Amino acid sequence: MTARPKIILDCDPGHDDAMAILIAAHHTDLLGITTVSGNAPLEMTTRNALLVSQIADIDVEVHSGADRPLHVEPKHASHVHGRTGLDGPVLPELERRVVSTDAVTFIIDTVRQNDDVWLVPVGPLTNIALAFMAAPDIVERIAGISLMGGSAGPGNVTPVAEFNIWADPHAAHLVLASSAPRIIMAGLNLTSQYMVDQVTADRLNAMGSVTGTFAAQVVEAYVEAGLRIRGVPSANMHDPCAVMAVTHPNLFTWTDSHVDVSTEGITIGMTVVDDRGFGSAEPNVEVLRNIERDAAIEVFVGSVATYR
Ligand code: BDR
Ligand code: CA
Repeated sequence: MTARPKIILDCDPGHDDAMAILIAAHHTDLLGITTVSGNAPLEMTTRNALLVSQIADIDVEVHSGADRPLHVEPKHASHVHGRTGLDGPVLPELERRVVSTDAVTFIIDTVRQNDDVWLVPVGPLTNIALAFMAAPDIVERIAGISLMGGSAGPGNVTPVAEFNIWADPHAAHLVLASSAPRIIMAGLNLTSQYMVDQVTADRLNAMGSVTGTFAAQVVEAYVEAGLRIRGVPSANMHDPCAVMAVTHPNLFTWTDSHVDVSTEGITIGMTVVDDRGFGSAEPNVEVLRNIERDAAIEVFVGSVATYR
């Protein structure tokens, strides 16, 4: 991996997506942000991506993408992120506009024009699947995919399914079965080790900067949701893990494992991780297992500190 990888961040902000944007813009060559329906409807996730880039004064193109999954009905995570997808922080008037409403074409063109692009999807995988279907030549051109989704363990929206995979299981199935050179999976088994709490919010607030204050409010709203849903005053920093797996691989351990996605029935949206250790199918995914939490918090706080 290069010190400063080229990435396209495909997201559905989302409180943890907002944190992922702040880390990505500091630590990567961020070629663009693409948005997808997920935590909230597309109109909202796109608004939120634009707002985060505006607040932190990040010079990046935003392209909106799919407003619905491939085959299932759109589902959102308002129970976590609120109706707007970013409930809680005080937000300014939106001044920025999307560069296009065709994220899929942006992804295809960008991968064709640049070597070694990492796709970093941290929402449902609809845009990535659509790009792979429309332009199969890009699959082997990318450096890899580092995604937040799934779990080598319990789910969060069903006993076995994690939201991003469950929200578009057919897209996830297609992407995980693709011949991408590398697929890294930051699932719930990993992201549940990367908790953020009021201690971090206080550090962000103490920066006294526009972005520090915003990031603190994002963390506080997210921690409040954690308290409401799980009864503990902390929240999982899911999406930053997929970014840091590319920018700070030394913070992680992983296994090369076979992963498939269930697209129907009671297990719909489940990532079936073959952990048998004997007779397992050919590995297709680097399944992240452990993260150095304290060092990863420093990456987040350090990133926020670089903005206005
Ligand atoms: C994932 O779902 C969303 O709510 C978060 O942004 C994260 O990408 C966690 O299941
Ligand atoms: Ca997300």
